[in-house]
Amino acid sequence: MKTLTITRPDDWHLHVRNGAVLQTVLPHTARQFARAIIMPNLKPPVTTVAQALTYREEILQAVPAGLDFTPLMTLYLTGSTTADEIKKAAESEHIHAFKLYPAGATTNSDSGVADIKAIYPLLAAMEQYDIPLLIHGEVTDDACDIFDRERVFIDTYLTDITNNFPGLRIVVEHVTTAEAVQFVQDTGNNIAATITPQHLLFNRNAILAGGIRPHHYCLPIIKRESHRLALVAAATSGNPKFFLGTDSAPHLTSLKETACGCAGCYSAHAALELYAEAFERADALDKLEGFASFYGADFYRLPRNSGTVTLKKTTWKVPSAYGENGLSITPLKANEELGWKLQ
Ligand code: NCD
Ligand code: ZN
Repeated sequence: MKTLTITRPDDWHLHVRNGAVLQTVLPHTARQFARAIIMPNLKPPVTTVAQALTYREEILQAVPAGLDFTPLMTLYLTGSTTADEIKKAAESEHIHAFKLYPAGATTNSDSGVADIKAIYPLLAAMEQYDIPLLIHGEVTDDACDIFDRERVFIDTYLTDITNNFPGLRIVVEHVTTAEAVQFVQDTGNNIAATITPQHLLFNRNAILAGGIRPHHYCLPIIKRESHRLALVAAATSGNPKFFLGTDSAPHLTSLKETACGCAGCYSAHAALELYAEAFERADALDKLEGFASFYGADFYRLPRNSGTVTLKKTTWKVPSAYGENGLSITPLKANEELGWKLQ
């Protein structure tokens, strides 16, 4: 029986929501990961240290007994964030980053930043207080084709941000294109990127060929095969600039399977198994531990985890949905077989 044992991993990009959805999804992540960077795009968004600490308590309450899991909180950057709040966040042991959503780019991003140049003084404060900036890197221009929005964001905004704030640590979240991979490779060690399982496993045919599959729809949208190959090469390269961030983003099944469905793939139920499948296909299982367990912690300047997790080469069928009392969340690869199972 083939097994793979690695140091306990972390998820550096995760949506857990709140209320009943939080109760449903958090146990999946706490089983798999020691820590996770928690996205702040709630309704209303988590914009202050005080709100993040309250949200942190709610998350801790949802951790099943016997599991130890640490939520690493982030704040949602808006046009009215103050330099004082940035200082407070940097001083808090529980706040680890700010998240920049261009207004309108994705789920719950209406309160995001409409004019990126106008918040440069806030980026200067983040650079000064040395707190990382996490970027959803897509332009929101209606005239820009949805498959081009990440590439255009790099040329329009990201290059200028990195030139203006050479000391700012930036994570380009959920990179989906060869151009983003190239950008991250070519910039300084203060620039890193997360990569999701769905962008390693699928190309855009998985959304649109042979029928429309709403559970493969997320933002940034999955691109063509050449981009998937570039992402797999980056993730399995051993380059510490690329690390694990699932972007697991639960939405109710009814809000995905509808005329105008929400963006987001739910992957927390089998995150490591999905990454193991992608790394195995690339004949690079030996590179999974660095990607999943070391490079993110190093970038965030947190200690690497102790302890290990073991994946076993065995097949199991993903349920059609998770949730109780009428709540239903359809996971990635619902009703399909996976080849690895976390022990
Ligand atoms: C995320 C969500 O649902 O919160 N959706 C997604 O498609 N990834 C938001 C995000 O990270 O863009
Ligand atoms: Zn996300």
